[in-house]
Amino acid sequence: MVTFHVCLSCSGNVRIPIKTMRLILATFAGAMFGYFLGIILPNLSAKMNLSSNLFPSTDLSTQTLFNALNSFKANMVVSAPSKKINRPKIWIPTNPKGAEGLPPGIVSPMSDIYPRRLWGKPSEDLAIVPKYLVAFTVGYEQRKSVNAAVQKFSENFTIVLFHYDGQTSEWDEFEWSRRAIHVSARKQSKWWHAKRFLHPDIVAPYDYIFIWDEDLGVQHFNAEEYIKIVRKHGLEISQPGLDPHSVGRTWEMTMKKDGIEVHKKTEERPGWCTDSYSPPCAAFVEIRATVFSRNAWRCVWHMIQSDLVHGWGLDFNMRRCVEPPHEKIGVVDAQWIVHKGIPTQGNQGPGETGMTPLKGIRERCKHELVIFQNRMSNAEKDYYEEMGVDPSNLTTGF
Ligand SMILES: *[C@@H]1O[C@H](CO)[C@@H](O)[C@H](O)[C@H]1NC(C)=O
Ligand SMILES: *[C@@H]1O[C@H](CO)[C@@H](O)[C@H](O)[C@H]1NC(C)=O
Repeated sequence: MVTFHVCLSCSGNVRIPIKTMRLILATFAGAMFGYFLGIILPNLSAKMNLSSNLFPSTDLSTQTLFNALNSFKANMVVSAPSKKINRPKIWIPTNPKGAEGLPPGIVSPMSDIYPRRLWGKPSEDLAIVPKYLVAFTVGYEQRKSVNAAVQKFSENFTIVLFHYDGQTSEWDEFEWSRRAIHVSARKQSKWWHAKRFLHPDIVAPYDYIFIWDEDLGVQHFNAEEYIKIVRKHGLEISQPGLDPHSVGRTWEMTMKKDGIEVHKKTEERPGWCTDSYSPPCAAFVEIRATVFSRNAWRCVWHMIQSDLVHGWGLDFNMRRCVEPPHEKIGVVDAQWIVHKGIPTQGNQGPGETGMTPLKGIRERCKHELVIFQNRMSNAEKDYYEEMGVDPSNLTTGF
């Protein structure tokens, strides 16, 4: 249109009657309008196609996004003044580290591992909100034993399987497997997995966390009943009693006692305990079928060392995570298990170093125990020195 106007003034000496002029103008304008429409329309529809290609498998259209954005903007206008004012910068020191610049209402420091749907209302995703979690570290060979164990955990439990043999979808032969959380990392241990995937902020919704081996006989065990007893007796760290006929029995404390619900102390062989309130006579459970309260797990998780994968030494130190330990750590006798003593990760060791795979693993366990004990006593010593306490006056507690 602009070009047309310029041309008219160029050809100033051409006399055109005003009526004709109007006609020409109108015709030209009409033609131009049509021309532009021709150019714009295909482009427009191409753009819309492109946008909808971004979401090929959903119904999300450009219009939907546009509408959502607009209503978002509308909300913003309501809350924000139209004149630009100097809003004070947000800085909340009590927010989690690194998130101080966010308004506290949006900070979401905890998470969960509840599976959700890709559709529907988020508020209606969970028919049941599980309050407990059980994690088994498993190989497919032990599926019978694990399947039997899972049956003992109600729908109030989130089931987590840590796979050390790379076989995961095979477990779908069990109905429950499809609602379980599967984590697969070859040749990795129970405590390696727990340190990485059960961070206290992730499992914060759960009242109790079961971290179990795969070779446990559960005929005389029911998880809901177990939790009732644990609550009743205020146990923050516990394990079911072991059938005295279990393979590889080691500590008197972990053995099932008859006729009682729980026990919190025991008699050991002479000379094994410094006093009757100390491990392994009290304040002590093993690490093969351990059950933690939320708060106890938050502490124990921090004690697990990332490079020490077998967890040896944790049992004697769990007392550091509850107060008083001889009252909050105990063994549940009324719900008991059998330890089958299958060295289930035994075939996961090195085959090439001249020793059997199992022997290679055992050596590492012992080595890790020494490292852990040294780290613990050094850390303790450093702390007390800093506090000006003579560490030689302290009992090591081990
Ligand atoms: C699951 O938890 C709810 C609420 O605590 C309880 O009423 C229900 O009995 C539990 N389910 C089983 C199988 O125990
Ligand atoms: C260590 O214990 C001895 C004797 O029990 C005591 O005299 C001394 O003051 C203690 N030292 C410290 C630094 O607490």
